[in-house]
Amino acid sequence: MVSLHQHPGSFTGMLMLVIFSVLISSSSSSKLQQKVNVCSKRNPVIFTFGDSNTDTGGLVAGLGFNVNLPNGRSFFRSSTGRLSDGRLIIDFLCGIWCNHGQLVTDLSHLTGYGESLNTGYLSPYLDSMRGSDFANGANFAVVGSSTLPKFVPFALNIQIMQFQHFKNHSSQLAATKGSGKVIDDEGFKNALYYIDIGQNDLADTFRKNVSYARVVKKIPEMLAEIKDAIQTIYDEGGRNFWIHNTGPLGCLPQMLTSVREKIKVLDRHGCIRTYNDAAKVYNDGLRALCAELRTELKGTTIVYVDIFKLKYDLVVNANKYGFKSPLMACCGHGGSPYNYNASYICGHPKCGVCEEGAKFISWDGTHYTEAANTIVASNILSSTYSTPNLKFDYFCNA
Ligand SMILES: *[C@@H]1O[C@H](CO)[C@@H](O)[C@H](O)[C@H]1NC(C)=O
Ligand SMILES: *[C@@H]1O[C@H](CO)[C@@H](O)[C@H](O)[C@H]1NC(C)=O
Ligand SMILES: *[C@@H]1O[C@H](CO)[C@@H](O)[C@H](O)[C@H]1NC(C)=O
Repeated sequence: MVSLHQHPGSFTGMLMLVIFSVLISSSSSSKLQQKVNVCSKRNPVIFTFGDSNTDTGGLVAGLGFNVNLPNGRSFFRSSTGRLSDGRLIIDFLCGIWCNHGQLVTDLSHLTGYGESLNTGYLSPYLDSMRGSDFANGANFAVVGSSTLPKFVPFALNIQIMQFQHFKNHSSQLAATKGSGKVIDDEGFKNALYYIDIGQNDLADTFRKNVSYARVVKKIPEMLAEIKDAIQTIYDEGGRNFWIHNTGPLGCLPQMLTSVREKIKVLDRHGCIRTYNDAAKVYNDGLRALCAELRTELKGTTIVYVDIFKLKYDLVVNANKYGFKSPLMACCGHGGSPYNYNASYICGHPKCGVCEEGAKFISWDGTHYTEAANTIVASNILSSTYSTPNLKFDYFCNA
């Protein structure tokens, strides 16, 4: 076991090590798992809330929907419920410190998926079938979730209510059986609460064919939901928050295909201007909300992460990253320019898929490929895009 402190300042390096080891191990017969301690102070605990950007199996478990291959093809080699060819951003962030504070550098044993799920991944709250281990927290994110309307599966407020049930039950178990395998009050206090939501609110509102002005008018209500969520978690004892803003909606092939011509004004990188502008208005509001809550809620640490900048950078600098068609889906129907057709979405038999190893940003027109998520995650870990500039592991070492 190697302590992080022997490798200072190298989280991106660690991430590369994860990827590198996966590459090596897939060509070697060794299934030995290596672990590196990255959390020196305490067992890391994380609770995640959001939509498909973070869903690692909630939709499939919670609503019984099928997510088929080629989803999952590049990393898990089978479908896991993730809408991507491989891992999501949260998988990379958790690969760093979910497994009881140990960085798992060899995930090759997970190719069968199912048996060893606990290792290095955060368990979906709704999944009772995969030997879920909630000692490091739980993932409440479900595909399609929004902040509004409330009280429908699995709106943000429902996910927060699920968390409250989880917390009550854990606290009771900890009180009667002693903490150990369950999270106690101290664990909930020190946990990191991660929220990545808002994309579906914006997309659904645009889909209703309303004007940009009306979409923007809805944003304060969305932000009020996020404020409520943070306040509720705070009232439950949570103090550490990791808040993602929303990505460039107007660069998604799905949006580029469905936008009505009249408002299809593209920026110089080919993305829909009004959609991205709405995302920016939402993000400015979210940034201001985080600042407000930092003073309002005593004793909190609230990190705001500029996902928009990171994801837009993939499109702007596509060449630099080796992406050939930044606005075209890998898995889709219809070919150039976007390879997206709402009647034949990824997983449909009439849907084609790009060659394995081809570098695409968009997996299915709405979600990102593992290749894209890898870059975004490693940039998140650099903390350059975070306000304040705290590293992800700050919360298990501070
Ligand atoms: C959690 O426990 C508290 C105190 O016992 C109770 O007031 C609250 O209703 C419970 N909430 C849930 C969601 O179970
Ligand atoms: C969308 O709204 C515009 C302007 O309000 C209208 O002209 C158009 O017919 C609408 N399209 C659809 C599909 O409802
Ligand atoms: C989707 O694909 C079908 C079959 O190729 C085609 O007839 C239809 O026009 C496409 N839809 C759109 C919106 O391009």
